[in-house]
Amino acid sequence: MILYKTVQDIRSQIKTLKEKNQKIGFVPTMGALHEGHLSLIRQSKQQTDVTVCSVFVNPTQFNDIKDFEKYPVTIEKDIMLLEQEKVDILFLPAVIEIYPNGVNEVKHYELGYLENILEGKYRPGHFQGVCQVVHRLLEIVQPDALFMGQKDYQQCMVIKKLLEIEQINTELIIVPTKREADGLALSSRNMRLSDGAKEEALAIYKTLNHIKNNIQSTSFEELTQNGADFLLNEGFSKVDYVAIADANTLEPVEKYDPGQKLVALIAAFKDPVRLIDNMTLN
Ligand code: PAF
Repeated sequence: MILYKTVQDIRSQIKTLKEKNQKIGFVPTMGALHEGHLSLIRQSKQQTDVTVCSVFVNPTQFNDIKDFEKYPVTIEKDIMLLEQEKVDILFLPAVIEIYPNGVNEVKHYELGYLENILEGKYRPGHFQGVCQVVHRLLEIVQPDALFMGQKDYQQCMVIKKLLEIEQINTELIIVPTKREADGLALSSRNMRLSDGAKEEALAIYKTLNHIKNNIQSTSFEELTQNGADFLLNEGFSKVDYVAIADANTLEPVEKYDPGQKLVALIAAFKDPVRLIDNMTLN
């Protein structure tokens, strides 16, 4: 694996690869790698010639400074895992490489309603930050394929929109969520949960399954309200949302229609950690 820290160095390597017609796969991460990230890397290794992975904890996507400061950094272990997975290139930039004009001089993206619902509503500015960093990384890496996890369902939709509005010719490949054997979705944030809290956090997965199993027989209002109550009873301190939405647009849906693809989404606090998960329903 070759490690690049500057835009200039990685760009010249990318230029060489492009000249050789190598298909480039890209897995952007914020580090604290786990099996979920590794599954993205494995997909990229299968489908492309060269896999580039970035590790960059992007300051502009944290609406809560405490969350940014507490974001786990495990770079030595990350490098070891990336070596084991035979990643070809690691891009490990400093903030100045990504934001040469500073973090306040940044572009605004017209993301429409996607920016103001669900995650967007509870984390104002978050998706602008995600677009700023992903757009910049795509300009640098110029990948043929971009691999992202379904765990961040709305993020995948935002990136799809980014590719459209910026007319970027990169294929977005969404990889299914990796879970622990008991169902808990893998997340870098899980590192901040005690074993007991992890067990209680399973309530999210149980709620999603309950919604999936009862989607035809129970009103959506009852399913989402009962879901939120269940999470609070199971030791969650706050529930941002339990929602059922159109799987293609993320617009809220009130009634079951067998012709419509649906997704259930949850965000809740297992104090002090905010967890998200989702499940497609049909
Ligand atoms: O999903 C993530 O880890 C981040 O949002 C991403 C896509 C690497 C951008 O910082």
